[in-house]
Amino acid sequence: ADMYGASRKNSAGVELGYDESLTALQAEIAAASAKPFPAATALIDGKPEGKSPRPVLSPIDGKPIGTVAEADEALAERAMLAAKAGFIAWSRTPARTRAAALRKAADLMEERRGLLLALLQAEAGKTLDDAISELRETVDFCRYYAAEAEAHFATPQVLPGPTGEENRLVLRGRGPFLCIAPWNFPLAIFTGQVAAALVAGNSVVAKPAPQTPLIATVAVRILHEAGVPVTALQLAPGGGDVGGRLVAHPAVAGVAFTGSTATARHINRTLAAKDGPIVPLIAETGGLNAMIVDATALPEQVSDDVVTSAFRSAGQRCSALRLLVVQEDVADKVLEMITGAAKELKLGDPRQIDVHVGPVIDAPAKQRLDAHVAAMRKLGRLEWAGTEPALGGTYVAPHIVRLDKIGDLAQEHFGPILHVVRWKAGELDKVIDQIDSTGYGLTLGVHSRIETTVARVAERLSAGNVYVNRNIIGAVVGVQPFGGHGLSGTGPKAGGPHYLARFATEQTVTVNT
Ligand code: SER
Repeated sequence: ADMYGASRKNSAGVELGYDESLTALQAEIAAASAKPFPAATALIDGKPEGKSPRPVLSPIDGKPIGTVAEADEALAERAMLAAKAGFIAWSRTPARTRAAALRKAADLMEERRGLLLALLQAEAGKTLDDAISELRETVDFCRYYAAEAEAHFATPQVLPGPTGEENRLVLRGRGPFLCIAPWNFPLAIFTGQVAAALVAGNSVVAKPAPQTPLIATVAVRILHEAGVPVTALQLAPGGGDVGGRLVAHPAVAGVAFTGSTATARHINRTLAAKDGPIVPLIAETGGLNAMIVDATALPEQVSDDVVTSAFRSAGQRCSALRLLVVQEDVADKVLEMITGAAKELKLGDPRQIDVHVGPVIDAPAKQRLDAHVAAMRKLGRLEWAGTEPALGGTYVAPHIVRLDKIGDLAQEHFGPILHVVRWKAGELDKVIDQIDSTGYGLTLGVHSRIETTVARVAERLSAGNVYVNRNIIGAVVGVQPFGGHGLSGTGPKAGGPHYLARFATEQTVTVNT
């Protein structure tokens, strides 16, 4: 750790157990929700632009909550050219000044928590708990990357000069960086990518997910207000081929992408096919995240951690548990407890404080999940099905599906569906091989009291985030750097000490004195 990293503290968040802070927070959210949300638009050099506005629908009830004026392909092109022009001044701005803008943005976001939390709930369907965690993660990203930039970008690193020469290593921005964010963390991942790219000295074109443009527009305006020049940060919301057009643009100096493995491959192919410089891709993609439970695990704790990991955030985290691999001897007991705990989950409008599971993001997501559940039901594999609330939004009840073997789970199902496989004593190595052969490597859970088992699993599986005897979601900035390997992404890990360097060029300057 560096001097800044060591003294930096993550934000304290809000303790929902205290009535007073909860009441104050709810009043701020209510005040922000009483007015129309600010319209989402493309922002070119700070100026709102875009096609004729379309409504943005809430997953809570399918009703419009605002509008977005999206970029078309021509506007996307203009955004990239504007970022190219904006790079020159921003890349020469001292790293400490860039870091100060991120810190100021974090402060402003905390001040405006009412609006941001209201949007996380209305636009992304988050529970208050999840919305608060996401806001915390967002400000932590800003402050963490600010500290990292001050430590590594502000002054050149002096290297040994064994022959009498002076050697220095300098980190600088690459150019216009394209940041493509997902809808599942429409504030934290969106802002995290953008903040990292900016503080490293790049200009940015940010493309939020089509489902969540409202909160992205607010975040960009806050960054501008905090001191990021409007020329350095351009916003291009849009669907269709707007993303493809941006990736293919000759000016792109780097791409940060979080989303599906298939889209990451597509971006990689587009970048590879271009003439000109070789462009780096930082991709954080999906997972077939497993939790291995052996007969020494504590069933109560397993049950808690499984329910949190599989069903919290309606299973819409890339870290979420998809596959529980439980030793036969304890499987019945563990499953009975999990089902009992899952039955207690309250589904519904996530703005109600007692609701645990809100909607999935949109109708296509619900259709895909419903189709998977229907297929599993037809095969007689449903172990347990929750009840869907009749609320008009895109709700999917939690489900537990029984599989014969790990290989039966062919793809990531991005919602509250847990798959369970049993294993026999003595077959741990087979289990490890089967999980390994999925090709994914994002999060991994192990519940065991046997140290050698834990060590063997962690050593043989190449997951990016291994969690022992706890849940497998909610990686904390600077504490549990997050990201995976193989089909799960390229690294480096977000919220970790190696992230910023990938956004930069390195220059060694050798002076013969
Ligand atoms: N960073 C989030 C988590 O750890 C993942 O999507 O849960």
